[in-house]
Amino acid sequence: MKRITVFYFTLFLFLLATSAPIEARHPFACSSKDLANKNLPFCRTDIRIEDRVKDLIGRLTLQEKVKLLVSTAASVPRLGIKKYEWWSEALHGVSNVGRGTKFGGDFPGATSFPQVITTAASFNASLWEEIGKVVSDEARAMYNGGVAGLTFWSPNVNIFRDPRWGRGQETPGEDPVVAGKYAASYVRGLQGTDGGDRLKVAASCKHYIAYDLDNWSGVDRFHFNAKVSKQDIKDTFGIPFRSCVKEGKVASVMCSYNQVNGIPTCADPKLLRGTIRGAWRLNGYIVSDCDAVGVFYENQHFTSSPEAAAAAAVKAGVDLDCGPFLAVHTENAVQQGLLSEADINVAISNTITVQMRLGMFDGEPSRQPYGNLGPKDVCTPAHQELALEAARQGIVLLKNEGPVLPLSPRRHHPMAVIGPNSDVTVTMIGNYAGIACGYTTPLQGIGKYTRAIHQPGCADVACVDDALFGGAMEAARQADATILVMGLDQSIEAEFRDRAGLLLPGRQQELISKVAAASKGPTILVLMSGGPIDVSFAKNDPKIEAILWAGYPGQAGGAAIADILFGTHNPGGKLPMTWYPQEYLNNLPMTTMDMRSNPSINYPGRTYRFYKGPVVYPFGHGLGYTSFVNTIADAPTIFSVPVDGHRHSNTTLVTGQSIRVTHTRCNGLSLVVNVNVKNTGSRDGSHTLLVFSSPPAAHWAPHKQLIAFEKVTVPTGGLQRIPVKIHVCKYLSVVDGAGIRRIPMGEHALHIGDIRHAVSLQAQVLGVIKS
Ligand SMILES: *[C@@H]1O[C@H](CO)[C@@H](O)[C@H](O)[C@H]1NC(C)=O
Ligand SMILES: *[C@@H]1O[C@H](CO)[C@@H](O)[C@H](O)[C@H]1NC(C)=O
Ligand SMILES: *[C@@H]1O[C@H](CO)[C@@H](O)[C@H](O)[C@H]1NC(C)=O
Repeated sequence: MKRITVFYFTLFLFLLATSAPIEARHPFACSSKDLANKNLPFCRTDIRIEDRVKDLIGRLTLQEKVKLLVSTAASVPRLGIKKYEWWSEALHGVSNVGRGTKFGGDFPGATSFPQVITTAASFNASLWEEIGKVVSDEARAMYNGGVAGLTFWSPNVNIFRDPRWGRGQETPGEDPVVAGKYAASYVRGLQGTDGGDRLKVAASCKHYIAYDLDNWSGVDRFHFNAKVSKQDIKDTFGIPFRSCVKEGKVASVMCSYNQVNGIPTCADPKLLRGTIRGAWRLNGYIVSDCDAVGVFYENQHFTSSPEAAAAAAVKAGVDLDCGPFLAVHTENAVQQGLLSEADINVAISNTITVQMRLGMFDGEPSRQPYGNLGPKDVCTPAHQELALEAARQGIVLLKNEGPVLPLSPRRHHPMAVIGPNSDVTVTMIGNYAGIACGYTTPLQGIGKYTRAIHQPGCADVACVDDALFGGAMEAARQADATILVMGLDQSIEAEFRDRAGLLLPGRQQELISKVAAASKGPTILVLMSGGPIDVSFAKNDPKIEAILWAGYPGQAGGAAIADILFGTHNPGGKLPMTWYPQEYLNNLPMTTMDMRSNPSINYPGRTYRFYKGPVVYPFGHGLGYTSFVNTIADAPTIFSVPVDGHRHSNTTLVTGQSIRVTHTRCNGLSLVVNVNVKNTGSRDGSHTLLVFSSPPAAHWAPHKQLIAFEKVTVPTGGLQRIPVKIHVCKYLSVVDGAGIRRIPMGEHALHIGDIRHAVSLQAQVLGVIKS
């Protein structure tokens, strides 16, 4: 008897240990134990989601419905539906910003990838998707464990329009094509692509639209009215969102705090119902930024009553309010006749559909796809290795005179490691992060290759005094080489904290110059920052031989920096944003949204597409330890664009005109440029091929626009042919002053590195009867 008990107890322990995951998460709805409800149509997985949603909505009262319009959604106990917290974040790893996610217990941390601006610098779309896959594995594991939701309000794909923006770090940079590709790739990784309509987790692209100012010179995001032209919306601000919805098939878009041309984005039916749902066909829900509905009532006084604000939001297309506002005021709005119950049904059918696609109405999570993911799937060695790999791929070598890098490890000769960011942990993960699995600081990373003499130089990045300068200079005098790890952190650039200027804070510049002058050996400057820094002084200082930009490189950032400094990894990152000199800001209010320059008022224009003045380092800049030569293997010099004969019967239409994209037969129309990339240097390496185009002179066009990018690895001496496919209507078109996309006929110049190739576009009129 006793032995049998022991046997069963052992069996029990065995089952306990092997039946992962621990059943910590009770089913959100439709539990197999819920005998009253589990057989109702909305719980039945053999019925179409559309019909399940209708069934459920038919059972809810108005009072129950309005409580589902908010991020802390109430339970409906009589139908066995639990409360749900919609707000979780996963910008570059599962984050603890947002009420839906809590670290601790079985989930003390999650893999913390580099901040997005760093990952963007890899220009590697498969890396972006891969990171999304890993993050959603960890997110599902945490959901199964009862500590996270399944709805993540990431990524942030606003254009990094102004270099001062405190949240530029969260974005993939200033170029709309890169941001669009990033959005689609990361979202595909997060949401999963193998389950048809089914979602692994639901992502959200934010903040729609023209949101890229937090707090500048007395203007903040809660009060800002962004005056934006149709042209800039169409060819800059809208592009990443369009790509996120149409190519990434994202399950949600978030509207922003700011107004666009006098209307809060979360109350604008043209932007939400018209563009996102109508033109782009979002299959998902639209959520307001947190308290944005309250903000446009209380701060912007856009409506005269809270009920009118609630009605405006829902009617414009908001399906879910981050914040309590809609739960409080929507029922009264219906009673006052400002909104109908049918409008509310539309909103909650959009949110409930996403919950059903996530499997939340399918009973026990453990019996569903991804139900086996648990604590063992978080912070795995493979995931942490990918975080390291992402940092290596994203770090950008800006300067390398000599070349001084890579350094050779000399175990017996010390190197000086100096600077307020030289031994940091949380600084490396930037904002919208979680709790990392662990960290390798720069000092620890460098310590694996060489003996280090460590000196902070400044107490923190603010660097208000020179008290620690002496020690730093002394270390540099003794060491064979000096590595300064400087830059910014969240005390300088953050949400609600835009920078006033582009120079290094406090006395950092003075420290760097003094240390470089005192240094016995070469000096290498490593910068951590999200936004660009005017480091002209260091670029021009011959005592500073090398400069490396690490962005915020994530939990393994110090290891990646060291791998690049010592040549274990050959850097291949490129800047995803222009590095401007401080003077660029002289005539550039952050509040002026215009992308295009305006010489009549000395307005310089924004980003490499429209600004032609001096830069510290241009968009796309980045060096490596080998050299690549690009040549064009073959490419067309003339390309015909089929044009609808009903619109253009004049066959002389060849050059000097622009044809509306909607008047062309564009489907699948692409030209292919075959480029040979040869690695002529002495190391294997990755090469980022950036293809720009300059359209024929048209006053509305960018002078240069990235139209394709490809990342390839080429061994030393190797040659690789890369077919670059250019979708003509999408990438060789430009948007005119009225917001209409047109293809200019005539000579388009393609720029690939130093080569220039001209393609002449000619209209070929179709459907004209020739005698
Ligand atoms: C906005 O920035 C100003 C300084 O430019 C600062 O005084 C103010 O506290 C900031 N507002 C918030 C809410 O952080
Ligand atoms: C065709 O276009 C050319 C140049 O724009 C113009 O000179 C000519 O008169 C047009 N012919 C017809 C038939 O419209
Ligand atoms: C892109 O990233 C993936 C994932 O890390 C990696 O396997 C691949 O080699 C990278 N591509 C290049 C060309 O570096």
